[in-house]
Amino acid sequence: SWTMLNIVEDSVEAVRRQVGDGHAICALSGGVDSAVAAAIVQRAIGDRLTCVFVDHGLLRKGEAEQVERDFVAVTGVKLRVVDAADRFIKALEGVTDPEEKRKIIGREFIRVFEDEQRAIMADKPVEFLVQGTLYPDVVESGGGTGTANIKSHHNVGGLPDDLRFTLVEPLRALFKDEVRRAGEELGLPAAMVWRQPFPGPGLGIRIVGEVTRERLELLREADAIAREELSRAGLDRQIWQCPVVLLADVRSVGVQGDGRTYGHPVVLRPVTSEDAMTADWAKVPFDVLSRISTRITNEVREVNRVVLDVTSKPPGTIEWE
Ligand code: XMP
Repeated sequence: SWTMLNIVEDSVEAVRRQVGDGHAICALSGGVDSAVAAAIVQRAIGDRLTCVFVDHGLLRKGEAEQVERDFVAVTGVKLRVVDAADRFIKALEGVTDPEEKRKIIGREFIRVFEDEQRAIMADKPVEFLVQGTLYPDVVESGGGTGTANIKSHHNVGGLPDDLRFTLVEPLRALFKDEVRRAGEELGLPAAMVWRQPFPGPGLGIRIVGEVTRERLELLREADAIAREELSRAGLDRQIWQCPVVLLADVRSVGVQGDGRTYGHPVVLRPVTSEDAMTADWAKVPFDVLSRISTRITNEVREVNRVVLDVTSKPPGTIEWE
């Protein structure tokens, strides 16, 4: 639309004024906020922006490709990809506590990002850090602006704060739906623009039990099936999000063909919500649930049972960890 076009052009102009002939970096997460922020800054300063995508191996099926291939193709952004899956899985070895998982994933993310940062800065000075801060975040945090390091960006403590940047926040005046419209205006992939909320620690907090490469593969398949069937049924806009959770520490007896199985259950957690503070379990039609269940148990090795979470928030949270 005309107004959206103006909003995008205005913020491109504002970034150009702020950054001058300086250099900026931006961490891409696969989510819409960082993608739109990066696309705007790219329009403003071109190759003086370097994006870093830390692939922690905890994203869903197709999401890394969306960033590495589709997003780059559309925006022409200069991107450094770090395949850090091994490192994250190694760091998560033997860890089952949810808060511990979150801490480790956050810490590893910062370390990898800071390594990249140093490599980039060996070449040229980088003064600016791009962040996808939205208007509601600005209001919540009291409206302050200025400098920050990547640590506070990810709310992770305990690291030396030797790297300081001036923040570039092109989405500071926008609400989520405006960010999505800006994303469309910028031609970003629809799957990225309309992605439902997905936690930073990714699939790492959707495996109850230890995170292993094999379990991630199972969960990635099950999640892809659930997303595909919910989309096909036209439910994407009605459902806030639908975590799929692998109960890796639970096994139950089943039967398939003429053999007994002893596999893992997955939980479907479709919810409706306005703001994620409260949520209700989504009344997904039985035939859709039935298709998801049949496909997951047929197509995902090791998963022999699909269960539905019918808890509202409160008392349940949306995620299981
Ligand atoms: P809960 O589970 O607390 O989730 O009801 C509320 C919303 O927040 C998302 N979520 C996270 N997002 N990092 C994130 O970026 C996290 O560690 C995290 N934990 C939960 C969750 O998907 C839901 O939309």
